[in-house]
Amino acid sequence: MRIDIFTLFPGMFPAYLNESMLKRAQEMGQLAVHLHNIRDYASGKHRITDEPPFGGGGGMVLKPEPIFTAVESLLSTLQSPTAAIGNPPIILMSPQGRPFTQAIAQQLSQQEHLILLCGRYEGVDERVRTHLVTDEISIGDYVLTGGELAAMVIVDAVTRLLPGVLGAEGAAETDSHATGLLEGPHYTKPADFRGWQVPATLRSGHAAKIDRWRREAALRRTWQRRPDLLLTAPLTEEDKWFLCQLAAESVGHSS
Ligand code: ADE
Repeated sequence: MRIDIFTLFPGMFPAYLNESMLKRAQEMGQLAVHLHNIRDYASGKHRITDEPPFGGGGGMVLKPEPIFTAVESLLSTLQSPTAAIGNPPIILMSPQGRPFTQAIAQQLSQQEHLILLCGRYEGVDERVRTHLVTDEISIGDYVLTGGELAAMVIVDAVTRLLPGVLGAEGAAETDSHATGLLEGPHYTKPADFRGWQVPATLRSGHAAKIDRWRREAALRRTWQRRPDLLLTAPLTEEDKWFLCQLAAESVGHSS
């Protein structure tokens, strides 16, 4: 996958991109990230990229021209007859975007190419939103100083879904949210740490019992922490029965 990131602060990215899984994905040839400084596309001696908003009010707004010029100059190279890739999604990072989820990460991981545009200051000129971007994503209901961290979150969540990037085959399939549920607890050696034991079922070697234990642990954790997820998670009859038992237990406790 190729990801082009347009930002005023390209220097914010390399530390994260050059470690661990993202480094590995690039070395494997699964990921190529290209950073573009929007300021390089601004005109005039001072290369101004932001101006106060029309109508007054606080803060600065990113001007449309440098952003259009930057993104269009990339698009023009892609649309050349020799370019192999077509029209990538152009995604604006913004607190007003649709909330990022694991399902969106999965959809984006199917693309060959993504363009991420990082907003700054009070926001970007609305004409960028209406005439350039094809999608707008928020990583949560809070406001960051800019879209750079949000872009990095998307790069990370998408990259780990690319084939071969996670060591264990299928490791991403049991992730929290990938199943519609939170994952249950994990344990590793030692079996006894300060007298706190690893659950016996996990050490039993009995694959079917371990699978059921894990499923029930995931259901219990989701029930306790994110019951809203149970409304949309795919559940078997056995899961529903287990949840009924949890519900009965909790009614028992409160009485
Ligand atoms: N830019 C500022 N805040 C943001 C958020 N919550 N998500 C995405 N981009 C942002």
